[in-house]
Amino acid sequence: MMDSQIYRKRRHQLAEQMQSGVAVIPTAPERVRNRDSHYPFRFDSYFHYLSGFAEPEAVLVLVAGEAPKSILFCREKNLEREIWDGFRHGPEAAREAFCFDEAHSITLLDEMMPKLLADQPSLHFHLGADSAWDARAVGWLNAVRAEVRNGITAPAAIRDVRVPLDEMRLIKSAGEIAVMRRSAEISAAAHRRAMQQARPGRYEFEIEAELLHEFRLHGAPAPAYSSIVAGGANACVLHYVENSAVLKDGDLLLIDAGCELDGYAADITRTFPVNGRYSPAQRDVYEMVLAAQAAAIATIMPGASWDEPHQAALKVLAQGMIDLGLCVGSVDAVLESGDYKRFYMHKTGHWLGMDVHDVGDYKRGGEWRKLEPDMVMTVEPGCYIRPGEGVPAHLWNIGVRIEDDVLVTAITCEVLTAAAPKTVDEIEAVTGKA
Ligand code: GLY
Ligand code: MN
Ligand code: MN
Repeated sequence: MMDSQIYRKRRHQLAEQMQSGVAVIPTAPERVRNRDSHYPFRFDSYFHYLSGFAEPEAVLVLVAGEAPKSILFCREKNLEREIWDGFRHGPEAAREAFCFDEAHSITLLDEMMPKLLADQPSLHFHLGADSAWDARAVGWLNAVRAEVRNGITAPAAIRDVRVPLDEMRLIKSAGEIAVMRRSAEISAAAHRRAMQQARPGRYEFEIEAELLHEFRLHGAPAPAYSSIVAGGANACVLHYVENSAVLKDGDLLLIDAGCELDGYAADITRTFPVNGRYSPAQRDVYEMVLAAQAAAIATIMPGASWDEPHQAALKVLAQGMIDLGLCVGSVDAVLESGDYKRFYMHKTGHWLGMDVHDVGDYKRGGEWRKLEPDMVMTVEPGCYIRPGEGVPAHLWNIGVRIEDDVLVTAITCEVLTAAAPKTVDEIEAVTGKA
C-alpha cells in the first residue's frame, strides 16, 4: 500500500477538477460464484486509486468546493464476523488510517446521501457502470427532490466522475511506476520459469501452474487477467483460456500472462518452441513479429501520436507477410486493402495500469492523442496463421505474439518487461535446449 497521504492528495486533485458538487465512488461488489462461495474480492480501481482502502462494502463520498471534504462509508467493526472473515477497520480506525475527514457505517449511506446532495449543483458518479448503484443514486436524487417545498434544491447535473479520473490515472506517479516495475519483474520471471518448464508431453495447465506459482511466490495475489497458455493451433485463438491441451513436440507455445501487484497489472506475451528450438518456418514468423515490435517501440517517445507504434508495426508485418507468401502486392496495397487483417486483426497496444486495458482516451478532438512522460502502454504485435486456401501450408497453425509493457520517459521510453527473454537466442538459451 502506498502512503495514505498520496490518496488524500488524489482526492484533493479530483475535488479541484470537479470545482463543485458531490462525487460518489463505490468499491466493487462482492460476487457469489456458486451457492455460498464468493469470487475472490477485488476492489474497484477508481475507489482504490482514491482511498487505498481494500475492504468490500465501502463507498467514497467527496464533497468539492472551497473546503473539500472526503467521507468514507465502510463496514462497522464486528467481532463475530471478524472471527470468521478477518479484520475490519471500522469507520473510526479507517478514517484515521486513510486520512478521511469523516467516516461512517455503510448502513447509513442511503440515509446520509440525500442530506449530502441537498443544495449541491451536481452529482459526479459512474452512471451506467452498475444498474444497482444507478438505482440507488436515483433514489437519493428523488429523496432530495422531495424536499423542494422546504426550499432545498436537488443537483441539476449528473456528471461522469470517470472523465477526470481517467486522465489522472493515465499519468503514473513515481510510486505507481515503482509498483508497475515490480509487477513487470515478477511477470517476466514467471515467463522465464514457463520457458524452463515447458516440454513435449506436459499440459498447458501445468505451465499455467508454473506462472501462478511464480506470481504467488512473490506476493502477487492473482493474475491481472486470465492467463492464455496456448500450444500449437490454440495460439491462433486470441482469447484462448482453456489451457487444457497437451504440448506437442514441434509446436510453439504462446503465453500471455501477467500478475497484479498492489492493484497494478503487468501484461506480457512470449511465444517459444515447446521442444526448445524454433523450426525455420516458426523462426521466420517469429523474427517478423519481433522486428515489428522493435519498430513500434522505436517510435515511442513524448510527442509521438498514439497510433505511431501501430503504424510502424503494420509496415513491418505487411512486408513480412508479403515475403512469407501470406499476402501479395506492395506494402502500401496490403495496408490499404487491410489484407494483413487475415493474420493480424488486433491493435498493437493499449494503456496499462490498475486495469489491464487501462483507462484513458486514445483520441482527443478526433486526433490520436500524443504520448506524454509517465504513460504506460503495451506493445503487442502478432501474426496468427490459420489454415486456409492460398495460405502456405508450412505456416499453418503458427501463432506468434510478443508483448511488452513500455513506460514513456522524458526523452524516449523504457521497456519495463525487458527481463522476459525475447530474442531467438535468448529464448533458446533459457529453454536449455539450444
Ligand atoms: N492479455 C490481454 C491483452 O494482451 O490485451
Ligand atoms: Mn495486452
Ligand atoms: Mn496480453
